[in-house]
Amino acid sequence: MKKFFSAADIDDLATVVQDALDLKDKPYEAKALGVNKTLGLVFLNPSLRTRMSTQKAAMNLGMNVMVMNMDKDGWALETQDGVVMNGTTVEHIREAAAVMGEYCDILGLRSFPSLKDKEADYNEDLFNKFVKFCGVPVISLESATRHPLQSLTDLITITEHKKVDKPKVVLAWAPHVKALPQAVPNSFSEWMCKAQQQGLVDFTIAHPMGYDLCEDFTKGAKISDNLAESLEGADFVYVKNWSSYIEYGEVYPVAQDWMMDNEKLKLTNDAKIMHCLPVRRDLELSSEILDGPNSLVIKEASNRVWAAQVVLKRMLENLT
Ligand code: CP
Repeated sequence: MKKFFSAADIDDLATVVQDALDLKDKPYEAKALGVNKTLGLVFLNPSLRTRMSTQKAAMNLGMNVMVMNMDKDGWALETQDGVVMNGTTVEHIREAAAVMGEYCDILGLRSFPSLKDKEADYNEDLFNKFVKFCGVPVISLESATRHPLQSLTDLITITEHKKVDKPKVVLAWAPHVKALPQAVPNSFSEWMCKAQQQGLVDFTIAHPMGYDLCEDFTKGAKISDNLAESLEGADFVYVKNWSSYIEYGEVYPVAQDWMMDNEKLKLTNDAKIMHCLPVRRDLELSSEILDGPNSLVIKEASNRVWAAQVVLKRMLENLT
């Protein structure tokens, strides 16, 4: 594996989930694989879980890890070609990525979308340039349109906790005070649609009118603007806010109550409730759910280690 960017980078989902669960069972079994190899984690945006879980995964594999908070500690990056750099940007991505590739065997990059320029965001302009110029395998730590380590984690967590062969999984939009990217719901939907194709889940998306995700990520999903109907018989509810894709980055007022709480939980098949975190309590998701027996959010965050470790292991096995 040279790149981990989307569901397309994994063929057989059941196998990668089982490999991750095997690592969870024996975390240090492949410790020799990463000795004298260096992972560089480059963040253009904040992170708790992605940063710590990926570091832990790399350490479990015997790797050295360097973290670069590019947004705070790096030179301001220029990403466009053909510009005279006489403004605020100091270093071009061509040199910055190439230099980091000299120091590291594998790189991870987090780069959020602008939510202003839909075309540049959905072309993954920055991520693709980084991959092109760094010259080493790259893991997405969340890009403009996707968060694949989170989505793989979510599939691992669903597999661990499912009580039926093909659980009903609902991605449910939730309220928020800010305009958030579509990366997590896009990615979750992409992975769940693929899992549905492979017979692993039955997948529904529920969102208010105006919050349709890009169709590239939702092929095969049942899509509804009726939350109550969608929740009927749900085994897992994945709660997440996102801003509008159609009116890019906009936040529409929503009259109906979309926050998941114990009343709505009664509509489900005693569903387990998931969220990628960070979560705004009693805005996106009720405290009673987060603190109750149906919440999987901490177990889900814990599984971030095994998602990162299975991806790093596959990359290390393919290093020349
Ligand atoms: N879920 C997730 O990616 O968390 P962080 O943004 O804290 O890394």
